[in-house]
Amino acid sequence: MRSVVVVFLVAIFALAYAEDELPLAEPCDADLCKAPDCRCSSQDIPGNLEPRNTPQFVLLTFDDAITELNTQTYRSIIYRRTNANKCPIGVTFFMHHEYTDYIMVNELYNQGFEIALHSISHRIPQDFWRYASYEELMREIGDQKQQIAFFANIPANTIHGVRSPFLQMSGNNTFKMMQSAGITYDSSWPTTRFTDPGMWPYTLDFESTQDCVVGPCPTASIPGPWVIPMITWTDLGGFPCSMVDACFHTPDTEDEWFQFFFKNFQKHYFGNRAPFGFYIHEAFIRPRPHVWRAIERFLDVLNNINDVFMVNANEVIDWVKNPIPVNEYVKKDCRRTTPAACRPTICPGLFSADTEKRYYMRVCSRCPRSYPWVNNPLGL
Ligand SMILES: *[C@@H]1O[C@H](CO)[C@@H](O)[C@H](O)[C@H]1NC(C)=O
Ligand SMILES: [Zn+2]
Repeated sequence: MRSVVVVFLVAIFALAYAEDELPLAEPCDADLCKAPDCRCSSQDIPGNLEPRNTPQFVLLTFDDAITELNTQTYRSIIYRRTNANKCPIGVTFFMHHEYTDYIMVNELYNQGFEIALHSISHRIPQDFWRYASYEELMREIGDQKQQIAFFANIPANTIHGVRSPFLQMSGNNTFKMMQSAGITYDSSWPTTRFTDPGMWPYTLDFESTQDCVVGPCPTASIPGPWVIPMITWTDLGGFPCSMVDACFHTPDTEDEWFQFFFKNFQKHYFGNRAPFGFYIHEAFIRPRPHVWRAIERFLDVLNNINDVFMVNANEVIDWVKNPIPVNEYVKKDCRRTTPAACRPTICPGLFSADTEKRYYMRVCSRCPRSYPWVNNPLGL
């Protein structure tokens, strides 16, 4: 009887221990870590391809709330654009919930763009995100997947990615949350050290060798989720920036902005062709017509280079899992989006007890009872 109790107690301790402590990641063993589900952090091109046989992917991303106002900019800059292979371009939206117009989310989805997670509240201070627990992240980001799927009427299984607010990860918790919530990749982790040649996306089965710029970074072994390193740009003063609109020493004229974009792009294109990130907020572009024009010119150039492809971020993960040379890649069918209907519905004056504000919300579903928020993502 006593030994049964002891065994029982040991089992309980083992369980409790397993829940708190994740296994520490060990140095990566490339023989054990293989495509499609595992990849060591490295600057090597997937599939050992030569740079000239490697598609140069470009990831244009926009962050924060999707509104009618910023969708006007998106319509003008990115709609009806195709890559040199005639396939429609991809763009990824890391959207947060507060102030988002879900009719616009539905429209962007139907244009073939990728909708990704950036939390429900995007709350301040930044330290909230730094110390966020696994449970808090599940409520802010895990639940956001169902929230978007419901109000924008798009399939939840088309939502694959996350970017932490302020690029502030919470170490292991962020990736444990991704594992539970079925989120394929993160795009919050800058690297200033592995920029030229750039670091390719990788998994966390083994220890990451990436520099940790905004800690805490994960150190446990967490199989499943991918990291798309944010390869920093170099500004005109030689300083790194994770997002285009976070660069400090910036150009003045349209021409200088164009040169600036191109110079940062060339490091990738004439290097190991690691995906080139063009990470920006629409609010930076709208009041700056010269930046707007420089972006359009830059995209026009990219869209005419035969081995350059602006794609949705999740398409890069698909390629890294199964790398094929550019001459095969161009023969593939273009991405297809099954149309998602929207019955536009306006919900005026929804109250949130959390923020003590009233919101005007537009959705493709029925109106919620109260303004949706953390802990009540559907506003029931
Ligand atoms: C992540 O998990 C590892 C292994 O359990 C642990 O050593 C490390 O302190 C954790 N880091 C954070 C920031 O939670
Ligand atoms: Zn943001």
